[in-house]
This record gives sequence, C-alpha cells and structure tokens, in this order.
Amino acid sequence: MDPLDSGEKSAQEQDLEGDTELPFLQPESQDQEKAPGSRTTLWIGVGLLLSSAAVALLTGMLVWHFHLRQDVRESRVYVGSMEIDNQNFKSAYEDPESPEFTNLASLVSQQLKLIYSKNSVLAKYYKGSTVQAFRYAETLNVVQCGYPRDSLSFVSSGNVMLLILVTSEEKNFPGFMANYSQIPQTAQKCGGTLTGDKGFFSSPFFPSNYPPQTTCVWNIEVTQDKFVKVQFYKFFLGKYSSQCRNDYVDVNGQRLCGSKQERTVVTSQSNTMTITFNSDSSYVDQGFTAEYQAFVPTNPCPGRFQCTNNLCINKTLQCDGWNDCGDGSDENNCTCEGSQMKCKNGRCKPKFWECDGFDDCGDNTDEDSCVKCKAGEFSCRNNRCIPENLKCDGKDDCSDGSDESKCQKSLVLQQCSEFTFRCRSGHCISKLNPECDGEQDCEDGSDESDCQCGTRPYLSSRVVGGQASEEGEWPWQVSLQIRGIGHVCGASVLSNRWLLTAAHCVQDNGPNKYSQADQWEALLGLLVQSLTNEWTVRRNVRRIFAHQDYNPMTYDNDIALMELDTDVTLNQNIWPICLPSPTYDFPAGQEAWLTGWGATREGGLAATVLQKAEVRIINSTVCKSLMNDEVTDRMLCAGVLKGGVDACQGDSGGPLSVTGPGGRVFLAGVVSWGDGCARRNKPGIYTRVTKYRTWIKEHSGV
Ligand code: ARG
Repeated sequence: MDPLDSGEKSAQEQDLEGDTELPFLQPESQDQEKAPGSRTTLWIGVGLLLSSAAVALLTGMLVWHFHLRQDVRESRVYVGSMEIDNQNFKSAYEDPESPEFTNLASLVSQQLKLIYSKNSVLAKYYKGSTVQAFRYAETLNVVQCGYPRDSLSFVSSGNVMLLILVTSEEKNFPGFMANYSQIPQTAQKCGGTLTGDKGFFSSPFFPSNYPPQTTCVWNIEVTQDKFVKVQFYKFFLGKYSSQCRNDYVDVNGQRLCGSKQERTVVTSQSNTMTITFNSDSSYVDQGFTAEYQAFVPTNPCPGRFQCTNNLCINKTLQCDGWNDCGDGSDENNCTCEGSQMKCKNGRCKPKFWECDGFDDCGDNTDEDSCVKCKAGEFSCRNNRCIPENLKCDGKDDCSDGSDESKCQKSLVLQQCSEFTFRCRSGHCISKLNPECDGEQDCEDGSDESDCQCGTRPYLSSRVVGGQASEEGEWPWQVSLQIRGIGHVCGASVLSNRWLLTAAHCVQDNGPNKYSQADQWEALLGLLVQSLTNEWTVRRNVRRIFAHQDYNPMTYDNDIALMELDTDVTLNQNIWPICLPSPTYDFPAGQEAWLTGWGATREGGLAATVLQKAEVRIINSTVCKSLMNDEVTDRMLCAGVLKGGVDACQGDSGGPLSVTGPGGRVFLAGVVSWGDGCARRNKPGIYTRVTKYRTWIKEHSGV
C-alpha cells in the first residue's frame, strides 16, 4: 500500500531517473581551430590538456559520487495491509471509483505521511502511498499452510480478495499454483416450504460458507394438532451482535445470531413456523444445519427428560452430576444420594471428588471448603501448612521446595524431594517442571540440555470423540505394524533410533509372535494409513525391551522400548517428544492430547487419518475409586469423565502429549488400558512415564 522510498523505486521510475542523473562527456567539436606551431608540441599540449581534463573529471565524479550525490535512486515498494479502527464499513469502499473510496484513501495516505514524518529514521525514506482496496476487517481470514491433499478453493464475499504469501527465512518449499475466476454474485435459490413431520434444512452451501447478501425463507407446516420444534445441530453465523444486526436466523420473529457451541432448540406454539436466514454484505461464516420435527404439545419429549432449553435427553442422564442439557437444567433441584455431595449450584457429585484439586462442581464448591490450612496459610505439596508470607521468600519453608516452586527465581535446595528437579550436578532446585522451559535454572544448565525435543518443526502450524490431525502436528507419533497384518499399536519417537510403546503390544499372542523384533515394522512421519509421502520413513525393528516387571494380568509396568535397525533422519514430520524427569508434575485438570489410529468407537473400526482428542489428567484417588482400585501408582488417568472421548483398541503404545511451560511437548503417558472405550466415569489408563525415566535411560541411553 505504501511505497517507501528507501531503496528501489518502481521499474518505470528507476529507468527515468537512472538515465537523467548520469553525466557524460560532450563529443569534441569537429571544427576546432588548429593552433600553429610544431606538431609534436601541439600533440603534447593536447595530450597534457586531455589528461588533466580526465583527472579533473575523474576527481569531480568521485567527489560527486561520494559526497554530493545524495539520492542513490533505489526504490522499494512495500505492500501490506492495515486496519482502521474508527470507521464503519460502507459497501462503496469496495468500489475504487466511488467518491467514498477516494476520500477514505486520501485520508489514509495523509495519515501515513504524518506517521512517517514523525519517525526520524523512516521519514527520509518515505515517498508516498497508494491505497489499492478496502475490505471489511471481519471478513473471514483463512490461514492455510502445509500440504493440503486436495485442491483448495475460496470464494470471496465481494469483488475483492486479498491473498498474502508469508514465508519464513528457514526453508524453501515448491510453493503453490492457483487460478482465479469470477463468479456471479447472485445467490442460489434457497428456502422453501417444508411439510411432513420431520426433515432437515441448512444454510446455502453448508458446510461451506454461505454467500453474503442472501435471504432464505423456510415455511414449515406440520399436522394440525402438532407444534413444530427445530434443533440447530451446527450454528455459525459470525460474531454475535446485540439485536443481531448482521447475519441472523429469524424464528417466528425471534432472532438468533453469533456462533453456538451447544445445540439450540426452538419451538412454535402452532403447527407452522417461519424461519428466515439473512446474511449482510460483509462477514460470512459456515452457517447452520437443522432438523425440524412435529411434536404433541402435551408431551414434547416422549419417554425422555425435557431440558429448559427444550432439548430432550435420556432420563438416566438426569441428576447424574453432568450437564447434559447444556443449560444445566438436568442437574438442578436434584436430591443427592448418600454417596454424593451437594454443590452450591445444586449439582450432585461423588463425595470422593471433594478436595481433589479439580473443580468438579463447576462453581468450585467441591474445592472451596477444603481447609487443609487456615486462612493466610499456604498448603505445601507435602501437606504441611506454612504462613502465606513465607511463599517465594527465597527459603525452602515447606522443605519440599513447593513454597518456592512457582516463583520468579529458582532456589538451589539443601535437600532433594520427590517433587524437586535434580540437576546433573546433583543439586536440586525448587522450580516446578524446569526442564526445557527456555530458562536456565540449574547452575550447570542441565535443565536446558537435550531440549531439541517436543517441537513441531513443520507446523508453525483411536481415539473416540476425536478429530483428524494435520500433517506434522504429532511428529513423534509412530504406527507399529505387523507384517502382513498392518497397524497394531502406536509408539512415540524418543530419538533417531528409539521408540517407546506399551509392553502389552509386544507380547506373544498364540501364533502371533509379537515379542519378536523381525515381525514389526515402524512407520514414522505418517498421517494417513497406507498413504506415505517423502517425509514418511519405514524401518525394521532391531530389538525390543519390554519392561521386566510387566504384569499381563494388571497391566502394571506396561512399557517397552524398540530400537530401529538404522537411524532415521529427523524431518518436519518426524521429531522426538520430550521425556519428563521423574519429578515432573502433571497435575489433575491439566489438558493433554491423545493421538492414534485406533478404533473410533468401542468395538468399532480403526481410523485411517491420525486422530487427536483433548482429555484432562484425572486425580489418582478419584481414578482409583472409579476403576475399582485397579490403578497403580505407575499408571496415570486421563479422559473426559462425562464420556465420549477416550483412547480405544489400536491406540495402545501411543503418546499422551502435554505441552510444558516453555511450549515443548512432554510424554506424560503411554496408552495402556481402559474399561471399554469412552464410557462415562471410565477414564483411559496410561503408563506413567515419569516412573520409567531411569529405566529408559538404562536401556536406550536416551
Ligand atoms: N489396550 C488397547 C489397545 O491395545 C488400548 C485401550 C485403551 N482404552 C481406553 N479405553 N483408553 O489398543
């Protein structure tokens, strides 16, 4: 937008100025008068004259070049975009011929000039600016990177589309090829009359974005004695505004707008309903998809519970401690059973969830009344109470370092404990999870050594209840395959030679000799099963070390190392994950990601695209009671207790990834076992990797 006169000008300008500035010698006149005298003297004279003239000219040119020539005419054009805060967008701004455009453009140019003139460094380089286009700042911004498998297409909301290619300094890629075409702005036909007792309808082009300036009207009419109910499954209409002035859906005169995460239900008081969808000229979004249904007014949820928001849910979900309606109405006014505690918000939660360090009630009342220590006291991790003001005073008052563990400065402690990080020197420091957090905490720097791990070199940018991953998103994820069978288990990359998986993956099973290295093949850098690319590496396995104390009955010590037959070269899709030290803390409630190609539902089929799902670390005491005390201290629980998100068959051996304070990703767990998959109150059980840090070092050197 603003060409800065710091260097190069546009080609045109450069030509003009380059030519005019260059001095040149005048050709000697043909009719010079010849002086009389000797020919030699004359020639010497002429020679001297010419050479002194040449010296003078050269000197002159050098002086001019180094001292006098001020404007080395190199020009640069910078193109970019900026946002204007205090203007309402008018559609005339999209037309460069309009007076509105011209006025605003000249205002912007003046403003820029002012900005540059006030900057002593840049002022002398600034030449002028031109405005090429205006667009509504909230117009959908799409950021895409990586290697999309299919072609991508984008439709603009008006007659302007801005494309910006941003490259980093690090790597070169082949780039992209694209073509563009103009399409008519007229919207497709939408809306209509819907009859029958049930049916679906959605915004134009759903699940692609709807076009701007579109209005659709649906007239729903069901049987005389019934009312209409419409459930919106997806609802994305851009940003919410009060009174829904931008894009909206109007249901019998009531407007809905913005984006809704929960299902939304609307009902009518008659057998008809009119739904109008309207988009304005700017922001576009994905739109909505909805189902309509006729219902008997006296019984809107036959056999089911009716939420205040009109959703119908299974009766068994009422008063079970979970907000299934989305508005919490299934958990209001419940009488808690003997084994339950009553939260302030009326919900009932299992008593043993009280004071587990996690807000189960949703209003924190299950954690509020946990007076482990008196007011004004700090509760140490070892359960001691110390005066609050001793926190971060540079002294280890708890004697486990926990009062100094989240302070600006890390302390070198006299004593080590199960919560403190041990530097290579043998000293322990107070800071919690100091390794690879980008700050040196040990005097010897050992907390920041070996920290190449846990990043995603490519991304700047099964699992039940998950979603597809992107290429390079989980570069430590490995698919372990048995020759002739295919994918069996997951694993994590620890180095260019070592993988970590579950011991139960490498146990013989009848005729299947899974404990033998030559049965296995490891696929690294894979995203889609049986779709390899230049970044995918296939390796044979040289050795397998299953943990010597693995117990196939209890799944205790469910961990194994695999050595590849040859080293792999790490690349953008293959990268090791960080191993946590034995004292690394993964607190209850922390978010973690599980990944794998396992079944996408209990008893279901394996996924083809690597799936990812977000879960939370679950308090061990709570987990033990949920899992009938089958969880040992060498196991870690993670999941979503409401159900619906979990690892499943085929995910075993794969990683449970947690992002540390410095942004690096740590291996918190190895997928091990569960009670079914994704069942309510049945978390996934993982091998607790911190317990095996020394075992891994001993057997692999990593
Ligand atoms: N044992 C399973 C496997 O071999 C993984 C089970 C994980 N189950 C769970 N519900 N988290 O793939």
